[in-house]
Amino acid sequence: MTTTGKGSQGRTEGAPRAIQGHLENLETVFKQLGVKPHDIECDGVKGLKKQLDHAVNSNPSPELLNTMIAGGVAKTEHYEVSAYSGMIDQAKFFGHKNAKKLLGQNLKQEE
Ligand SMILES: [Fe+2]
Repeated sequence: MTTTGKGSQGRTEGAPRAIQGHLENLETVFKQLGVKPHDIECDGVKGLKKQLDHAVNSNPSPELLNTMIAGGVAKTEHYEVSAYSGMIDQAKFFGHKNAKKLLGQNLKQEE
């Protein structure tokens, strides 16, 4: 996926279809709230990747490697669910009904 700063089309270029929908919903939320999205490296995801890289580099058996990869994917999905849940709580709190709806669609696809 690229982040070209050219709006949702540039951001979603090369992304799988479901992720494109998620990014388009996020772009819509940002636009409706009148805020500009900007790229911030996610330390949480970076940490999950680092943890998996460390495990992979410990020369595990193929079976254990598959289990570790599956665990890494599951952790990442839980992280995404937590992030969407937090954003939905904020949208509810501030009365942003459409943002809550769009973020809820993304969350539903993550669960
Ligand atoms: Fe996901």
